[in-house]
Parts: sequence; structure tokens; C-alpha cells
Amino acid sequence: MAATPVALILGSGPRVGASVAQKFASSGYKVAVTSRNATGGKTAEGFLSLKADLSKPDTVPALFDAVKAEFQSPPTVVVYNAAALTPPPEEGAPLSIPTESFTSDLNINTVSPYVAAQQAIAGWETLPKGTKTAFIFTGNILNTAVKPVPVFTTLGVGKSAAAFWIGVADAAYSARGYR
Ligand SMILES: NC(=O)c1ccc[n+]([C@@H]2O[C@H](COP(=O)([O-])OP(=O)(O)OC[C@H]3O[C@@H](n4cnc5c(N)ncnc54)[C@H](OP(=O)(O)O)[C@@H]3O)[C@@H](O)[C@H]2O)c1
Repeated sequence: MAATPVALILGSGPRVGASVAQKFASSGYKVAVTSRNATGGKTAEGFLSLKADLSKPDTVPALFDAVKAEFQSPPTVVVYNAAALTPPPEEGAPLSIPTESFTSDLNINTVSPYVAAQQAIAGWETLPKGTKTAFIFTGNILNTAVKPVPVFTTLGVGKSAAAFWIGVADAAYSARGYR
């Protein structure tokens, strides 16, 4: 039996995230979205709405559990769209960012998507062979070269670090059909 196509969008804000969610819904996917402000239940569009603070990576597995409970299927497509940056409090001084903010942004930009990818693969292993699956991470240009722009410090650190583990994981898992 073919698996239900289910898309989980982690961080579905009004710009990229909302459009991606709509696109999957219009392509026949059941959709779950996360936001720090979610109140549970369904969104106006009928998407499963989950509350998530992605600065806390250990809360990510419960989001996958909630999707499975709702749709009787793990997400077949996972889109990690959330991102965060902290402008340096001292203008032009990238080393003035408080450690707690640096760590929190790194969790949102790198560690939580890593946990999400672990969860995605664990779910896909339970699906019928040949099910179309994908892990999509919304990137930007910051992992291609170091742009000396202080306001982008934590965003660039996070995108670069995530690009590395995604590249390694892609090479390791694509032979099993996982991208
Ligand atoms: N906008 C651009 O010009 C642009 C350009 C290149 C790349 N990108 C990339 O595209 C992605 C989306 O950016 P966007 O600007 O279009 O924003 P967006 O899709 O409108 O929403 C960003 C999402 O990040 C989430 N987020 C931030 N901190 C979070 C936290 N602690 N816990 C949970 N969620 C958190 C927000 O969740 P809440 O609902 O809780 O606020 C929001 O859903 C990002 O990865 C960004 O780097 C954007």
C-alpha cells in the first residue's frame, strides 16, 4: 500500500514557509506546520498546527510523534525552514554577541535540523519501499563564502555548519534513496 504523502514544515512563517506549505497542500500532501505561537489544532488552511521552539533540539522528536499520531504516517517530506540571527549589540562587533544567543541561534540553524533529519530517516525506514521522501533545508548564500557582515554572524555560522552535515549525510544516504 502506498504511503500517505505527509509534509512537515518546521518554521512556516509568512514568507518562504507559508508558500511552501500551500504548495505541498495543493499537490495532495497532508501538511503539518510549526510555530512558536501555535495554539494547537488546525490552521485556517486546515494544516496540523504544532507549537515548537526550535532553539530546543530535544523537543524535535515530539513533533514527529505528533505528526505520526495525526496522520498514521511519519512525514514523507520534511522541510526545515526556521532560521535565526542575533544582531551584535555593539554595532560592527561580531564578537559582542552573547554566548547564550550564539548557542540558541546555532540550535535553531544547525542542531534542530540535524535532529529533524535523524527523525525523518527513522520514519522513512518504516515506510513501504519506493515511497517518495525528501529532507529539504532552506539555505541561503552564506555557506558559499564568508561575508564579512556582522549582523549575519550567527546565521552564517548556522547555515555553513548545516551545509556541511547535510552534504555528508546526502553522500552517505542517497544510495538508500534518502535525500
Ligand atoms: N527572507 C529572505 O529574504 C530569505 C533569503 C534567503 C534565505 N532565506 C531562508 O528562508 C528561510 C525562511 O526565512 P523567511 O525570512 O522566509 O521566514 P519565514 O519563512 O517567513 O519564517 C521563518 C520561520 O523561522 C521560525 N523560527 C525562528 N526562530 C524560531 C524558533 N526559536 N523556534 C521555532 N521557529 C523559529 C519562525 O517561526 P515563528 O512562527 O515561531 O516565528 C518562522 O516560522 C530561512 O531559513 C532563511 O534563512 C530567507
